[in-house]
Amino acid sequence: MSKADKYKEYFTDKFLMGPNSVRVLAEMLEKSPVDESLRILDLGCGKGLTSLFLARETKANQIFTADLWIGATENYEQFKKWDVDNIVIPIHSDANDLPFANEFFDVVVSIDSFHYFANQNGFFEEKILPLVKKGGKVIIAMPGLKKEIHGCEPELILEWLNGEESEYEFYHSREWWHSVLRENKEYKIVEESDLDCFDIAWQDWFDSNHPYAVRDAEYFQKGVNKYLSLIGFVIEKSL
Ligand SMILES: C[S@@+](CC[C@H](N)C(=O)[O-])C[C@H]1O[C@@H](n2cnc3c(N)ncnc32)[C@H](O)[C@@H]1O
Repeated sequence: MSKADKYKEYFTDKFLMGPNSVRVLAEMLEKSPVDESLRILDLGCGKGLTSLFLARETKANQIFTADLWIGATENYEQFKKWDVDNIVIPIHSDANDLPFANEFFDVVVSIDSFHYFANQNGFFEEKILPLVKKGGKVIIAMPGLKKEIHGCEPELILEWLNGEESEYEFYHSREWWHSVLRENKEYKIVEESDLDCFDIAWQDWFDSNHPYAVRDAEYFQKGVNKYLSLIGFVIEKSL
């Protein structure tokens, strides 16, 4: 059984909010293991599935979770049920204004959320990087495009992204994200890839039958998947 499969009972509309974040995080941690007792920030943690995975599958001794749409109390109640509330600390916060000290975290993880707040030049350096210790790392994965389509969109993907809650401005290619992350001597992108778990992560989401998942599945059947990817980056902060 894969590490992600151990969490199958939670792959439901109660916890999933998009392509399965547990599958995505499991693949990212295979590429870039977190093996020591570290302090982690799970940024944009949603309903806390990735925080549960980090608590059980890494040696982290403190995991702060920060999310905007989901309240700290809701996540705290769930962390107690999962018996991880001794190490997972839920915070309700906007990534634009995170309430943490500089160089507080060994690792920042952001799964299926970075695209909502970090899609502009300078955001990463100004808002995220300062929170990471020298020598620490940032693990990012999110849905995106195989190639930039902005300005020359095929109608199908435009229709999908401009649904009830428009996601048009958040979906970009790996090359686009690479340039927006703006590597410099303070930090390097040490790993970047299109993730292998694309099919299964989206299929888990469709199987949840969440109303948004039903709509996404319809558009996948029509062919939007051929424009899409799951994009992963690992960034290391220099010593
Ligand atoms: C699609 S959900 C994914 C949640 C979770 N990471 C997962 O994969 O299950 C996107 C998450 O990004 C978070 N988010 C969006 N904008 C944010 C912001 N400005 N600051 C913090 N979190 C944000 C939302 O609160 C939401 O939980």
